[in-house]
Amino acid sequence: MAPARHIAAVIAGGGPVELKEVDVLKPGENEVLVKVVAAALNPTDWKYALSPDCVGNVSGCDLAGVIEELGPGAEAYRKVGERVTTCVVGAHSANGAYSQYVVAKANLFVAVPDSLSFEEIVQFPVAVFTACQCLYQSLRLSILPGPAASEPTQILVYGGSSSVGGFAVQMAKLGGLKVHATCSPKNFDLVRGYGADEVYDYRDPEAPQKIKAATGGKLKYAVDAISEHGSDKFVSGALSDEGGKIACVLPYTSLPRANIEPILSIVSDLAFDRPGSGVSYVEDGPKYAKMITDLIAQGKLKPAPILIMSKGLASVSEAFQYMMEGKVSGKKVIFRIADTPGL
Ligand SMILES: NC(=O)c1ccc[n+]([C@@H]2O[C@H](COP(=O)([O-])OP(=O)(O)OC[C@H]3O[C@@H](n4cnc5c(N)ncnc54)[C@H](OP(=O)(O)O)[C@@H]3O)[C@@H](O)[C@H]2O)c1
Repeated sequence: MAPARHIAAVIAGGGPVELKEVDVLKPGENEVLVKVVAAALNPTDWKYALSPDCVGNVSGCDLAGVIEELGPGAEAYRKVGERVTTCVVGAHSANGAYSQYVVAKANLFVAVPDSLSFEEIVQFPVAVFTACQCLYQSLRLSILPGPAASEPTQILVYGGSSSVGGFAVQMAKLGGLKVHATCSPKNFDLVRGYGADEVYDYRDPEAPQKIKAATGGKLKYAVDAISEHGSDKFVSGALSDEGGKIACVLPYTSLPRANIEPILSIVSDLAFDRPGSGVSYVEDGPKYAKMITDLIAQGKLKPAPILIMSKGLASVSEAFQYMMEGKVSGKKVIFRIADTPGL
């Protein structure tokens, strides 16, 4: 039985969070209450913590833990005591991952196999769901297992050492594609380990031309897992002169070339319909969750290296600063709730 009150990281204004005692929320229809064991850091967390509109809301999206309570109808999907990971739309309400208890949608969970710890699995939800959206929703590539092809389709993943990019490399490779990826040279081996066939340094000004040459000028698909700092020019420079599609994770501010189509996906679209968007992706979320659960159970999807912050939720503000300063490279930052002083 969950307590009435718990500790959560509440957005204080201007960047940091404050740990406060707040009410534990009740799960609604088709929702469950999770007792959180570990939570992971995503760039969206520090970005929204800077927004005055989010002050007073609970931060954090990725969480892993044990199901504590089922809301009405949730018994169709889950059981009390299950080890799970999922994500919520943090920073927008009193429900966020950086807390002891979180309410989440019952049909959007990835099951945790005994072979992985909560600290390892918690990096999956936001990043792997976004990678699925890039490949299957934006680029409309065949969902796994793709058709066997004599000449594999080629894809560029820009930002192969990022969380989203690392899963995009892995999912694309599992789908039978030939994967070209960019990252810093220190992360070449990591990204090859995810399955990239060729790796390139994105700081090399010749790299777009090198990729164009390596793909015979036929590259039609790219995932831009960074989508800023000039990535649009790099990626469009590598794509075929005939044009192509770029799945982006932030909106492109300009069209790189007339025959190139940048297509943005937003991970929260898997949980809720965006008002006015005219399209619905909420039925894709449970399909991706099932596919990812199976791939993880089969040992086919690897977690990235992790960095566990020393003071649990009390380290969230420090971790925001660390990520904002661009210090996260090829790893996922994790918080263990039990490491929080006093918990
Ligand atoms: N649309 C959505 O719903 C959605 C969902 C998730 C994330 N996102 C966005 O996607 C982006 C990536 O998120 P993430 O969690 O995957 O990031 P992340 O894991 O924190 O990214 C870190 C990686 O980014 C690479 N990097 C840093 N600066 C770079 C630059 N100037 N050019 C190229 N690469 C650079 C680094 O590569 P090296 O260390 O190898 O240099 C590093 O390994 C963020 O902007 C995030 O807000 C959007």
